[in-house]
Amino acid sequence: MPVRWNRKSTRTGKTVNYAGLKRTFTARFGKLPGLLARAPGRVNLIGEHIDYSNCPVLPAAIDREIAAWAVPREDRTIRMLSDMPGFPAREFDIAPDIPPFETGDWGNYVKAGVQEMVRYAAGRPGRGRAFQGMDVIYTGSIPSAAGLSSSSALVVLSAMLFCEINDVKTDLLTFAGLMAEAERYVGTRGGGMDQAAILFGKEGHALKIDFAPLTFDPVPVPEGYRIIVADSLVKAPKTRDFLDQYNRRTIECRLAAAMLKKGLETAYNRDFPVAVLGDLKGEKLGLTDGELKDFYELFFHDNPYTSGEIAAYIGRTQREMEEKFYRRRDGTYFPEPEDGFRLKERFLHVMGEWERVLFSVEALTRGNMDRFGVYMNASHRSLKELYQVSCAELDELVDCLCNAGALGARLTGAGFGGCAVALVRAEDEDTVMNRVRELYYGGRDAPDVLFSCVVSRGAGFLQKRKD
Ligand code: GLA
Repeated sequence: MPVRWNRKSTRTGKTVNYAGLKRTFTARFGKLPGLLARAPGRVNLIGEHIDYSNCPVLPAAIDREIAAWAVPREDRTIRMLSDMPGFPAREFDIAPDIPPFETGDWGNYVKAGVQEMVRYAAGRPGRGRAFQGMDVIYTGSIPSAAGLSSSSALVVLSAMLFCEINDVKTDLLTFAGLMAEAERYVGTRGGGMDQAAILFGKEGHALKIDFAPLTFDPVPVPEGYRIIVADSLVKAPKTRDFLDQYNRRTIECRLAAAMLKKGLETAYNRDFPVAVLGDLKGEKLGLTDGELKDFYELFFHDNPYTSGEIAAYIGRTQREMEEKFYRRRDGTYFPEPEDGFRLKERFLHVMGEWERVLFSVEALTRGNMDRFGVYMNASHRSLKELYQVSCAELDELVDCLCNAGALGARLTGAGFGGCAVALVRAEDEDTVMNRVRELYYGGRDAPDVLFSCVVSRGAGFLQKRKD
């Protein structure tokens, strides 16, 4: 019978002190806040780097969150504070086009959420009055730059507060879609997994999320298992270099899809609606799955591709390639990687991971968690070898977790550092944690870098008074 996952887990994590934060708000702003909202982080159980190809993923919201107290202002200024180190006070005005702070500034995540909802609301009928700003203070218990979506939680939370203050209404699915778009403001061409997990989270349930159209399906998880999150201690902050590494993968996937589209059209002499790899579904394309697989299995050659070769194949000029595939948000163009576009490896990862998600959902439904662990391990191998988003420390940590007795472990989130996630039997939780503490963290006890998490509910308001 489905029950709450990890309910009895030994929680070592930080919790958020709402009352303390309210006092800080009052002391700093000299007034009382009436709005309190929270947005959780997420851990992705499986389905990594495939959301932007519109393939299904399986994350869960966790009991780490960003929370904020806020009060509306009469003008259109947003003044924001945080009680977290490294998050200095920021201020900006709501406008149709809000200019970003410098790359990497935390304030950009607040701006991202607000900007998206300003655009959305401004285009709605009946929006006559000016937008109101707010005074807001944030706090959080999600380790940052660790692959647990602290930044998406900040975007979502800020947009929720803005909407509440300005009476902007949407349904949840529309809002999740808008929030995925919102993140382009900070320069990532990500998919919609994080925002969906943050908004749709349900206690005790993993979420199977599908895209185009966005839907979610909570999958209850059997009792007796724990999800352990372990930080590799390699930070993966969203610097220009990180964004380029991440966006390179999204570009490679879109290039692979464009080539397959062209290949199919040439082979079958008709149009194929393929824009992303997730469009490669036999039924959708009027082919059997067997025919489709036969076609693509031998499609890509092993060597990396040059932009010129891809352009020639799909019949585009270099200029068109730049506009369609390589344009960054700031108007500059993504440079061709020195080692070429690795289309075959990226393609194989996406197709394999997609299949693993479907098998994992089945394993979860049947309570076959040993199997689930096997898919997690296979996912990590693929991310390391084919997608090349792991690093030596993450590989070592995943090995430690497996050697310590986890059923499976893998990097979670974008990679290049950040956290690993592991599945363990409840009775093995302490042993695994202790051994990993010894093996990876040199015996140090650091509750913020190694913790067992509780699968939690999605974002929401805890208090809604606007006066
Ligand atoms: C980041 C992005 C997500 C997803 C993951 C990798 O978290 O925001 O959309 O692509 O990386 O799975």
